[in-house]
Amino acid sequence: MRELWKLNPYIAKYPHLLLGGMIFIFLTNLFAVYAPSLIGEGVNAMKTFDDAFLAPIRDGQTEAMLFAESPVPEFPFTLKRIQAWFGGDTEAWTTGLNGKEDALAWIQRLALWQAGLFLLAYLVKGVFLFFTRQTIIVMSRRIEYDLKGTIFDQYQRLDATFYKAQDTGDLMNRISEDVSKVRMYLGPAIMYTLNLTMLIILVVIVMVYIDWKLTLYALSPLPLMSVGIYFVSSRINRQSEDVQRQQSGLSTFVQQHIAGIRVLKSFKRERDATKRFAKEADRYKMSALDLVKTEALFMPIIVLLVGLSTILTIYIGGQRVIAGELEVGHIFQFIFYVNLLTWPFASVGWVTSLVQKAEASMKRINDFMEVTPLIQSPLANNSAPVTMEELAFDNVSYRYPETGIEALQGISFSVKRGQIVAITGRTGSGKSTIAQLAMRIIDPCQGKVALNGKSLTEWDLDALRGLTGYVPQDVFLFSDTIAGNIAFAMSGEEAELEAVKGAAEEAHVAHNIERFERGYNTVLGERGINLSGGQKQRISIARAFLRKPHLLILDDCLSAVDTETEDVILKSIRKRGNEAAVLIISHRISSIRGADHVIVLDNGRVIESGTPSELVEAGGLYARMVEQQTESA
Ligand SMILES: Nc1ncnc2c1ncn2[C@@H]1O[C@H](COP(=O)(O)OP(=O)(O)OP(=O)(O)O)[C@@H](O)[C@H]1O
Ligand SMILES: [Mg+2]
Repeated sequence: MRELWKLNPYIAKYPHLLLGGMIFIFLTNLFAVYAPSLIGEGVNAMKTFDDAFLAPIRDGQTEAMLFAESPVPEFPFTLKRIQAWFGGDTEAWTTGLNGKEDALAWIQRLALWQAGLFLLAYLVKGVFLFFTRQTIIVMSRRIEYDLKGTIFDQYQRLDATFYKAQDTGDLMNRISEDVSKVRMYLGPAIMYTLNLTMLIILVVIVMVYIDWKLTLYALSPLPLMSVGIYFVSSRINRQSEDVQRQQSGLSTFVQQHIAGIRVLKSFKRERDATKRFAKEADRYKMSALDLVKTEALFMPIIVLLVGLSTILTIYIGGQRVIAGELEVGHIFQFIFYVNLLTWPFASVGWVTSLVQKAEASMKRINDFMEVTPLIQSPLANNSAPVTMEELAFDNVSYRYPETGIEALQGISFSVKRGQIVAITGRTGSGKSTIAQLAMRIIDPCQGKVALNGKSLTEWDLDALRGLTGYVPQDVFLFSDTIAGNIAFAMSGEEAELEAVKGAAEEAHVAHNIERFERGYNTVLGERGINLSGGQKQRISIARAFLRKPHLLILDDCLSAVDTETEDVILKSIRKRGNEAAVLIISHRISSIRGADHVIVLDNGRVIESGTPSELVEAGGLYARMVEQQTESA
């Protein structure tokens, strides 16, 4: 339970709901226990009445004599109370009883009253049950909401390095499956536990008060039932997890085959796929059948043991009635109680497994919440940069922790406001790593990246990112409208449509967008699949432009556009370059020809740097690239 204790601060936010829930559970059980006593009372009253009037008649005594001599029969306690409250005259009921017909009518009237009162008690119980759920379950839903919020905040705080080491599906489970298992603890588990505890206390008090010996007999099979059901339900849990695993395996299989249907068909693998599907489905069927077999044990166990309890109650109770130690109505009452306890006892096993699952889920949530992001804002928040004058890499090295690859070694260069610096080099040479270091998505292992002379780690992280516009190498577009995707750059307030259009114009994508039927309101698929690669890149560029960033980083984002379009965009960049620092990463000479300064990377090191014309003269890798690319053009 140690992990679940961490939930206490969340519960403490809703003390009224928990307390209210406890009160309602108590009241629900009070009426649940009270209702059967009405049956007991009623039966007892009828029995005494029968003994006094009707039994002697059956034995042959004459009616007239009996009704004249016998005392007025006792009313059940509750009924008497109610009559008294409403000023009714209990005596009036019984005076003038004259003969067998009258006596039978009296019994009928009494039975109707008791039945009515019984119904009323159950109705009141139902009302309280409604409020119980309205408090405890509402509390669990509220906490679920809070917990999801906290987890989502943590998702946002964590850095790229963390995400690379994690499986997305697994991370998603924290906020979906794990939270819902914890909620099952907060809602049903707490509710049933409180309910069982209060019900047992109340029922046992009443039963012992009536007859402690009979209580022992009647309740003896119930713990057995709890244990039996615990074993059955743990087995059910294990097996249903099995079934779930098979099922998700099956859906993954189908999903893969639907997604890759074109490849599947072009390689003519349909028959093979069908065979493999049949095998997977068969495995699923087998575990589902196992589960059904175990589940089939559940009800018989309950029925058997409750039946045993009932038989013991009737047998032992009957003997005690014959011995004159118990009234017959109480046997009825006991049978009600045994049945009342059935479901709570049966649910002990279920609740236990709920708690166990919640404990495991909460441990995963706690572990996740305890991860501290590597990239954090400095604690003193007065260090927000307002402009960017210069971004300088000073002898920077970076090694990817997961793979141990030395992506960068001793990199030094700087980019000033109004300058365009291009970075080129073979694939895998470390260009994108530089972009990530410049954005402080990762921190260097050695050396320092400095903004305006001060290390990035000393600047406020939000403000720092606020200055930059980044076009990543792998474009990501949200399933939103085109306008929404471009305006994503602006936080909070909606970006003006005019500004969005302006940015699209500069990124040379406006004319494409306007040709769509719904223009800027065109909704993109999950990864913008209804756009061409070049269109996606340019929308991503427009997004960065919209921000009017002080530092613009373009990571190989012109690879999928034709040279004409490239020219237009480069002109826009050049225009922006007057007030911003620009970092262009590209393989294409046409993209970097116009830069003020070019850095050529190879294997994580700077092998050449200078103005484009200097590099051509130097006759190194850059010169060779120029040669090759002009040849092929
Ligand atoms: N997330 C990562 N985890 C581990 N290693 C990485 C990661 N990203 C990149 N690397 C490695 O770091 C090196 C540099 O990668 P980087 O992405 O910076 O290259 P690049 O110059 O941008 O290449 P490209 O031109 O293909 O985009 C490569 O050897 C790559 O395998
Ligand atoms: Mg790259």
